[in-house]
Amino acid sequence: MKAALQAATARHPAARPGTPPTLRGLELQVAAGEQVAVIGPSGAGKTTLLQLLAGALPPSAGVLQLDGQSPWHLPRTELQRLRGRLFLAPQVPPLPPRQRVVTSVLAGRLPAMGTWQSLRSLFYPVDIPAAFEALDRFDLADKLFERVDRLSGGERQRVGLARALLSPASLWLIDEPLSALDPTRASQAIDTLLSAARERGTTLVATLHQVDVALAHFPRIVGLRDGAIAFDLPAAQVGRERLAALYAQHEHELTGQAPESPEPVQAPQPVVMHCR
Ligand SMILES: Nc1ncnc2c1ncn2[C@@H]1O[C@H](COP(=O)(O)OP(=O)(O)O)[C@@H](O)[C@H]1O
Ligand SMILES: [Mg+2]
Repeated sequence: MKAALQAATARHPAARPGTPPTLRGLELQVAAGEQVAVIGPSGAGKTTLLQLLAGALPPSAGVLQLDGQSPWHLPRTELQRLRGRLFLAPQVPPLPPRQRVVTSVLAGRLPAMGTWQSLRSLFYPVDIPAAFEALDRFDLADKLFERVDRLSGGERQRVGLARALLSPASLWLIDEPLSALDPTRASQAIDTLLSAARERGTTLVATLHQVDVALAHFPRIVGLRDGAIAFDLPAAQVGRERLAALYAQHEHELTGQAPESPEPVQAPQPVVMHCR
């Protein structure tokens, strides 16, 4: 799926009236099958950008087009169909605590299923081998029947990513997929995601905190700062100076050192995938 933003402006849903928009006049074209990493300091608007691309947040000005269609102007049935082709993975996957891993992973298919089929799948996991295979690619095959609340934060995050592999979506929007993973796991997880996306021709837009991982694995890098695109370049052309400017006053995020006053861990947020 190709995605395009034209002069798109968006406001964080919880932003106070009168505050400047979170994203300002974004121009972005992502071709079908492309793999793009979005980097930038905390508060730059990376998560808001993914929500905008997922049709979960309306642009307050400008246009979002997914395969040439504006989700905010589609009739209900077509909108439903389009939603089934999108997969948004939030940074903290919203996994119901008592659920089994197998059910959580198979939930990756829900947006593309009808109501009865999805209800049935919650009670009778229908494709256990597919869930096993997806978990195995993230080194979690032994957790298939484990309860989600017995997993570590990193394991939970990888279950959230295994969900993407089950999703038949043609656009994956993945928010900070590696934030709870150690460097080895992070590298393995990003390789798995990128190769799965490549195998299927799925378009992948991921926000990443780890600049070195973004540069090493993604062909195209979008630098976002203060709600605007600072650069949009092939990874090889980004260079130290641009990174230094992107992270000015946020150097600890670039060097990977802990900030002086770490932000509290974000509580799981409900994912709203509705355009209306
Ligand atoms: N809970 C919130 N309430 C109000 N404004 C928010 C909230 N979360 C984010 N924002 C606004 O949106 C901006 C971008 O946030 P976000 O998209 O989460 O950035 P990033 O993912 O790059 O850290 C923030 O700088 C802030 O102005
Ligand atoms: Mg974010």
